[in-house]
Amino acid sequence: MNHPTQLPGRRVGPDTDMLSAYVPLPGLGVLPINAFLIRAREPVLLDTGMAALRDDFMEALRDLIDPAALRWIWVTHADADHVGNLRAVLEAAPQARFVTNYLGIGKLGLQMLPLERSHMIHPGQTLHVGDRDLLALRPPVYDAPETMAAFDSHSGTLFSSDCFGAVMQRPAESAAAIAPAALQDGLSLWATIDAPWLAQTGRAQLAAAVRPLRDLEPRQILGSHLPPAAGIDDRLFAGLEAALTAPIFNGPVPRALRETVEAGEPVVA
Ligand SMILES: [Fe+2]
Ligand SMILES: [Fe+2]
Repeated sequence: MNHPTQLPGRRVGPDTDMLSAYVPLPGLGVLPINAFLIRAREPVLLDTGMAALRDDFMEALRDLIDPAALRWIWVTHADADHVGNLRAVLEAAPQARFVTNYLGIGKLGLQMLPLERSHMIHPGQTLHVGDRDLLALRPPVYDAPETMAAFDSHSGTLFSSDCFGAVMQRPAESAAAIAPAALQDGLSLWATIDAPWLAQTGRAQLAAAVRPLRDLEPRQILGSHLPPAAGIDDRLFAGLEAALTAPIFNGPVPRALRETVEAGEPVVA
């Protein structure tokens, strides 16, 4: 896979669809970039993909739902691979408000997004979406301090944002379909790239930070940079633990990166 590619949406759980794109990481592999549609009574889009694939993303979204029916857009954080199409979705979804916290509103205001369309909640609070509550929580690993994961109490699904991403050699249907050793390496590498501060974290601190997620006993974990993961929580947490002692990430192979930049392709950093 040499170019960013948007895949068609697909069902990944009760009331839940995934909008997945893959981007090449020069010299490393590929990374999924996922958004999700929760078919609650008040439909929720969780993140909005990246601007580089705007037309393809909007088409894939329209194949799943009439955007005019969306009521909420849950913004896990304000990074470009999560809010790249927020403005386009807001324009196509006049009923929808975007959900974030104090810092998220500040950052999205700097991007000139219409703050009158925002709805502020903070970790520990819930958003009622008609037939269920979505619990906002701070994941143990993140790259932006406004990050809010979401737990769907109705389906038992944890939407973990950047936590539990994996660099992969090729796209996969599910995280369980990736060989365990390759998954561990991919989880650890992503965590090292995305959260270099993990190198200053001890095992006991990480264990305490992941405890609230483990206690939720999610039926499925849907990460922004991982195929759907069910029944492999231990492997996911082991991947984070491996990042504590992984080598510092210093960037991809220079020649592969240069070729990508010269080709005018977007680079995920
Ligand atoms: Fe991020
Ligand atoms: Fe991300």
